[in-house]
Amino acid sequence: MSGSTGLFITFEGGEGAGKSTQIRRLAEVLRARGLTVLTTREPGGSPGAEAVRHVILSGAAETFGVRMEALLFAAARSDHVEQVIRPALERGAVVLCDRFMDSSRVYQGVTGNLEPDFIAALERVAINGVVPDCTVILDLPAKDGLERARRRATQAETKQDPDRFEKEELDTHEKRREAFLDIAAREPLRCRVVDAAAGEDAVAAEILAIVEPLLPIVAHGAARGRETAS
Ligand SMILES: Nc1ncnc2c1ncn2[C@@H]1O[C@H](COP(=O)(O)OP(=O)(O)OP(=O)(O)O)[C@@H](O)[C@H]1O
Ligand SMILES: [Mg+2]
Repeated sequence: MSGSTGLFITFEGGEGAGKSTQIRRLAEVLRARGLTVLTTREPGGSPGAEAVRHVILSGAAETFGVRMEALLFAAARSDHVEQVIRPALERGAVVLCDRFMDSSRVYQGVTGNLEPDFIAALERVAINGVVPDCTVILDLPAKDGLERARRRATQAETKQDPDRFEKEELDTHEKRREAFLDIAAREPLRCRVVDAAAGEDAVAAEILAIVEPLLPIVAHGAARGRETAS
């Protein structure tokens, strides 16, 4: 985020694309280099937003329509940004966030059929200037991602029911994949598309190659922080 010393990286893409896996791996690598890393996720990431997450993902708000759902996502995002993300960036941390504003553009905007102006207005209010420095879009055919997510669910010790979004039709998931690619094409400076079909190690290496050139920003920021603190 411009104006702060930290680095804000968001991870986007469909279900099962590998967002959580790659955030975990990148956080490990960056911490080993001595950087302060905060990993977080949406919806959720702050106590207020986690409460809203439960309402959204349980499907409790579904009967009230996609407009209300979009407002809930925005409320959760606003709390998450102000309580967690902005303070961490101001402290000079690298913030890795699992889904952010592009998921709203895609899920509520494109496949929820909400007007782009409405989505853009909510986005502006919710992020309040905290724009990601870099957005990694993990790209994978929807059917492969859903297959991965299903396999993950059968392996889990506590079996989870599919959430409100995982239950949707395959062509809806494919539409979302296209919508993420559209965003990347429109914002090539912020967004980087990574082929998520490759093995975990190869995907991790590609992500590190994207992130590495951005790290000097944080290193300088942290050094400045240390100078003023001493
Ligand atoms: N590159 C990969 N190749 C094969 N399997 C992978 C790869 N990356 C992740 N997986 C596996 O696929 C499953 C889904 O990965 P992960 O949970 O990281 O996806 P996600 O994008 O966070 O999904 P969701 O949107 O549902 O949270 C996991 O079981 C993970 O171990
Ligand atoms: Mg995940």
